[in-house]
Amino acid sequence: QVSKAFLQEVQVKEINAVLLTKGMSDNWESIWNFQAKPNDLLIASYPKSGTTWTQEIVDMIQNDGDVRKCQRAYTYVRQPHLEWKPWLLSTPGLEEAEKMPSPRTMKTHLPVQLLPPSFWKENTKIIYVARNAKDVAVSYYHLSRAMSVLPRPGTLDEFIDKFMNGRVLWGSWYDHVKGWWNKKDKHPILYLFYEDMKENPKQEIQKILKFLEKDLSEEIINKIIYHTSFDIMKQNPMAGYDTIHINIIDHSISSFMRKGITGDWKNHFTVSQSEKFDEHYKKKMAGTTLTFRSEI
Ligand code: A3P
Repeated sequence: QVSKAFLQEVQVKEINAVLLTKGMSDNWESIWNFQAKPNDLLIASYPKSGTTWTQEIVDMIQNDGDVRKCQRAYTYVRQPHLEWKPWLLSTPGLEEAEKMPSPRTMKTHLPVQLLPPSFWKENTKIIYVARNAKDVAVSYYHLSRAMSVLPRPGTLDEFIDKFMNGRVLWGSWYDHVKGWWNKKDKHPILYLFYEDMKENPKQEIQKILKFLEKDLSEEIINKIIYHTSFDIMKQNPMAGYDTIHINIIDHSISSFMRKGITGDWKNHFTVSQSEKFDEHYKKKMAGTTLTFRSEI
């Protein structure tokens, strides 16, 4: 039985040709005028790229590997999502962020051109995490099926088409990853890849430590790797969104912590879908130095 929440289509509205929810667009002035601080940390990504995983790693680093401290609150309370109103809280993410004591860590899915300008002005550090397009599309499709506050995805074929044309929330994946990539040499941005984190979490955690100018013992780093591994995070009710009310995410359709692997697209894309996707991909990604691995 489908929950009533899923029978209503989510209202969307563009800001500068990027599809956002109507709520975000209606609130755009406050989002755009958000005041960042130099000692803030922003975790930015296209949806389904390993944001929550990065958030957990960062929180563990900031709390010197203290698991209890990292379970002090839900992910979206510890690190507010700037442009979105967290469904279980009464105020939007940016209002939550405004109430937080410094140093603050926040999350955004905004494409680079829509980031509130105060982040550039204050030279705030940003960690960007990116993931290969096909795995993002599959993960986004499954979450859209299960999450009532995202637009209905249609069939996988229809969703892939929307994804390729950037007709999904937060816009085009291609523009998002390239936009942030182009900005990374002009601003303190650490650009990470989901696939690298899967393959060698220690190395990527060390990059984050260096970026945050922090030093942790080998023992604590190993503890962080363990507690932020997919299986352990999946069991942690404070990490991710699997404890969210069924009216928001229907876990019988799909979990938030779904598979956590690289290359799951192969279980979903048909050969012809994959060929069509690759051809379009080549055109969209022509001329960039940014490359992705869709298997490891
Ligand atoms: P899948 O749907 O492919 O499983 P985001 O946080 O940006 O929304 O990304 C969610 C994706 O990251 C989901 O992908 C989720 O399972 C995966 N993920 C979350 N935590 C992870 C972890 N600790 N290790 C690997 N993947 C993780």
